[in-house]
Amino acid sequence: MLEKDIEKILVSEKQIEEICVRLGKQITEDYQGKDPLIIGLLKGCMPFMAQLIKNIDLYCEIELMGVSSYHGGISSSSDVKITKDLDASVSHRHVLIAEDIVDTGKTLDVITKLLLHRGAASVEVVTLLDKPEGRIVPFTPKYVGTVIPKAFVVGYGLDYDERYRNLPYVGILKAEVYKK
Ligand code: IMP
Repeated sequence: MLEKDIEKILVSEKQIEEICVRLGKQITEDYQGKDPLIIGLLKGCMPFMAQLIKNIDLYCEIELMGVSSYHGGISSSSDVKITKDLDASVSHRHVLIAEDIVDTGKTLDVITKLLLHRGAASVEVVTLLDKPEGRIVPFTPKYVGTVIPKAFVVGYGLDYDERYRNLPYVGILKAEVYKK
């Protein structure tokens, strides 16, 4: 039923599983002895973070932070709003932020600086998708699942107007859906 709104599948469920195995292995190697604090940015991180952490073979903790930069449309607004703050301290912790997509780079630029300001020992980003053509603020995530072209995508946590997060793949939304 949701599939009728999708123009094209960009990253399949199987490809996402493979991405999570590769990224999980790399993170496991890089964070040996560091007990990372993995912070997911709600709500888009949910399926990706859940799949990724199963592939990280380390002592680690997870935290969630609510961040919003879209307000119902298909382009990010300039203000990044924290809708739910962390429960744990990041002081002296090696933080790994788990995100669904990096587009303009504004969200991660703001959140990375905030967590460093709060005393994190290091802050890196793992993102399922990277849309480098959308960049407004220079930002390079350390771990990238896959690079995608400048299109509005939904699924696997990504929404349009809070819908489609439950699609098991990432797809391009038909323009007629958001032009309605
Ligand atoms: P940025 O601050 O522009 O890098 O955007 C980060 C946030 O914008 C992501 O966490 C998503 O919630 C949202 N976003 C960016 N591109 C897309 C997209 O193609 N589809 C759905 N949400 C997106």
